[in-house]
Amino acid sequence: MVENKTPIIIGCDHAAYPLKEKIKEFLSDYGIDVEDAGTFSEESVNYTDFGIKVASSVSKGYFEKGILLCGTGLGMSMVANRFSHVRAALCNDVFSVAMSRKHNDSNILVLGGRVIGEALAIELVKTWLETPFEGGRHQKRLDNFDRIEGV
Ligand code: RB5
Repeated sequence: MVENKTPIIIGCDHAAYPLKEKIKEFLSDYGIDVEDAGTFSEESVNYTDFGIKVASSVSKGYFEKGILLCGTGLGMSMVANRFSHVRAALCNDVFSVAMSRKHNDSNILVLGGRVIGEALAIELVKTWLETPFEGGRHQKRLDNFDRIEGV
């Protein structure tokens, strides 16, 4: 169990709507408040609209962490990583998700609803929540991100 149960903002497109609902259930059972930025059905939408909502909220500091889902996770990660202070990690395996926290201090987890199943997705979210950032030399590397934003 993680001690810091900061609220999380979550968003998806139609392709990942069912998985978003499962992840919301898991987060609620885990004791984490969730702000749902949509979408709210499997009707076709533009993933960009929901990626922008979640990533801008994290970028502005309204939420410390967010979760984004689309069919592959690719579009959402491309959108999210255009925002300052966002470090969005598209992960399909437990090792990558843990490293995205330890070394990259990822603040948005991106999942592909057409790539992974529910059980793995929940395992990835749990690992992401429970793995701390290691800081140290990794913080120095993250500090360099400020030099490339807006280039
Ligand atoms: C929607 O068909 C699909 O393009 C979207 O969910 C996502 O995979 C984009 O990267």
